[in-house]
Amino acid sequence: MAAAAYTIGEVLFNEHVIQTRVHELASDLGSMLMGKKDVVVVALLRGSFVFFADIIRELARDGLDMRIDFLTVGSYVGNVSSTLQLKHDIEIDIRGSTVMVVDDILDTGRSLSFACDHLRAKGAAEVHTCVLLDKPSRRTVPRQADFIGFTIDDVFVVGYGLDFDHRHRELPHIAAVRFPEDKQ
Ligand code: IMP
Ligand code: MG
Repeated sequence: MAAAAYTIGEVLFNEHVIQTRVHELASDLGSMLMGKKDVVVVALLRGSFVFFADIIRELARDGLDMRIDFLTVGSYVGNVSSTLQLKHDIEIDIRGSTVMVVDDILDTGRSLSFACDHLRAKGAAEVHTCVLLDKPSRRTVPRQADFIGFTIDDVFVVGYGLDFDHRHRELPHIAAVRFPEDKQ
């Protein structure tokens, strides 16, 4: 998709709304993870990096003992369809661990499914999932997240880590992207 001729539209979630929800989510995650033996919180890069940074610091304030790692899954576009591949693996040995995967947005569900399958194959005892945003209308695989910040319609969003063409990740809020072909 060309990066030209689009505009940043309305703010869907402002900083305050995001921080309030992140605080609640971290509290729910902490309640579930507290007392588990070996907790590893994994960021599914790259869109989750801002959300992840906020979540892990909230978990730390709540006193959760955890280790942190990073996983990157990407797709390359072939002739017919795009195929997911592992671009950067975690370094921690997660055999027997309780893993919490944190992602920015659950769209088709393919990335999170791929990541969970991979982490289970590496021997995690439990794999849980947390996403900031969920776009259920876009799902192509039957994947749910255990913890969800906000459910949104089928609209492309940027900010708070999410990008369009590597731009707008730095916005402190989440806004809709408007394309010329969108209905006015
Ligand atoms: P999936 O389709 O569920 O595998 O999502 C793949 C990735 O696409 C997400 O983790 C995001 O990084 C990205 N993505 C999906 N929808 C949006 C969006 O609205 N804005 C920015 N990135 C998105
Ligand atoms: Mg992502």
